[in-house]
Amino acid sequence: MPLALHPLQAARQPLLHAVRTLSPLRRYLHIEPLSSHEIRRRFLDYFAQNNHTIIPSSSVVPHNDTSLLFVNAGMNQFKHVLLGTEAPRHRRVANSQKCIRAGGKHNDLDEVGIDGRHHTYFEMLGNWSFGDYFQQEACTLAYHLLVDVYKLPKSRLYMTYFGGDPEVGLQPDFECREIWRRIGIAESQIIPRGMDDNFWAMGEEGPCGPCTEIHYSMDGSAEKLLEVWNLVFMQFNRTRRGILEPLTVKHVDTGMGLERLVAVLQDRQSNYDTDLFLPLLQKIPELAGTPPYQSKFGDDDHEGLFTAYRILADHARMCTVAIADGMLPDKRGAPYVLRKVLRRAALTWSNKLHSDPLLWAQLVPTIVQSLGPAYPEIAEREAVIQATITKEIEDFKGIVDKGTKAFGKIWQKLENKMVLPADKMYELYRQFGVPEEVIFGLARGRNMGCDAKGFYLLMDQERVKSREGLARKKEQVAQ
Ligand code: GLY
Repeated sequence: MPLALHPLQAARQPLLHAVRTLSPLRRYLHIEPLSSHEIRRRFLDYFAQNNHTIIPSSSVVPHNDTSLLFVNAGMNQFKHVLLGTEAPRHRRVANSQKCIRAGGKHNDLDEVGIDGRHHTYFEMLGNWSFGDYFQQEACTLAYHLLVDVYKLPKSRLYMTYFGGDPEVGLQPDFECREIWRRIGIAESQIIPRGMDDNFWAMGEEGPCGPCTEIHYSMDGSAEKLLEVWNLVFMQFNRTRRGILEPLTVKHVDTGMGLERLVAVLQDRQSNYDTDLFLPLLQKIPELAGTPPYQSKFGDDDHEGLFTAYRILADHARMCTVAIADGMLPDKRGAPYVLRKVLRRAALTWSNKLHSDPLLWAQLVPTIVQSLGPAYPEIAEREAVIQATITKEIEDFKGIVDKGTKAFGKIWQKLENKMVLPADKMYELYRQFGVPEEVIFGLARGRNMGCDAKGFYLLMDQERVKSREGLARKKEQVAQ
């Protein structure tokens, strides 16, 4: 049971909340912003108080769904409930879901580190209504959480709604626009957007529907909006042929990236400047003996060192979570993506930090400290995670040594040292057995580009040749 507050304390509460949202004053008075743990907890408490059942995050390894490499949204585990092929256990549900976006339709791998917003691993806070409430209550619940619980100023919230698409025969979602108006959002802060932004689909096929997104203005203007919450009104099943079949029951599926929300509530311009990442960004230079982290991006990050720290922190979280959920690096499918991410981190560590990539595995305890309380499976498997990463990097170091020698010989003979030609990439790959991510990494390490297009063309040609060879052999056997 919560402890009753003294009347004086109770009177101070609204004042403290107000101060928390006014950053200069907050800094002046040394008031700590909410921690990520507290932000996650308040989300779950709020929905529990609003009659939602709080369920644990599912594993990031998809269960019974070959259309996904990794779980990439909170709704994945409810796909069949949304499609009506499985009965819901509860009508109202909320959780904090571990997600990985490093392959397939939602893939953020290449954005990582470059900006302050994208991650291969992130947490999605979500609430669902399975045939229970719909647009009105979904918007109202979201609004009150942001404004009354997290104390975000209403004037900073911008709502987008689905503006319709005549090509697919969908009308604008005026109902949603009307709801935001009734809630009291200013007309100038309710914006229609098209299919690309405001129609959400899990994949090429499956449950989908128009959505409304809640954006937070980072500077008070409509120019610098950050999407924080997506409320999807699930109404269709997109078939393999791309046809939108109406669902018999309508549902609500929402997703809010914890890292972005924490950045907003901790008043940071980048997700990396929050308590979810800063302990890692501090540990990396400590381990490698390199300069301390600075929140610099693009041209301001002259050597790309701080971008490298961000990549290393992100990838360590992704690998830790995937291995905690039982995945091991391997040659195909999602385990291959895990291997690629792991190797990319190892190369980044050695090429940019000029230090032994085995040290990267020592980030695991810091991640366990940060995520373990919310996801106990991560803490329970700490030793396995660290051992798996260490073994994979040891093996990889052997491969890189071999590749580096071969690459060095080729590099010396190159006339143009700006771009590694496709035939040389292919030679490294085929003759010396150097994996493609290592080739790219080695070239990056010498500040060289790669003729990736030509390389993939050569790989395709080889595949065609071997398929033709196989067909010829089959024919000969048949004759
Ligand atoms: N399912 C809603 C989202 O991922 O944004």
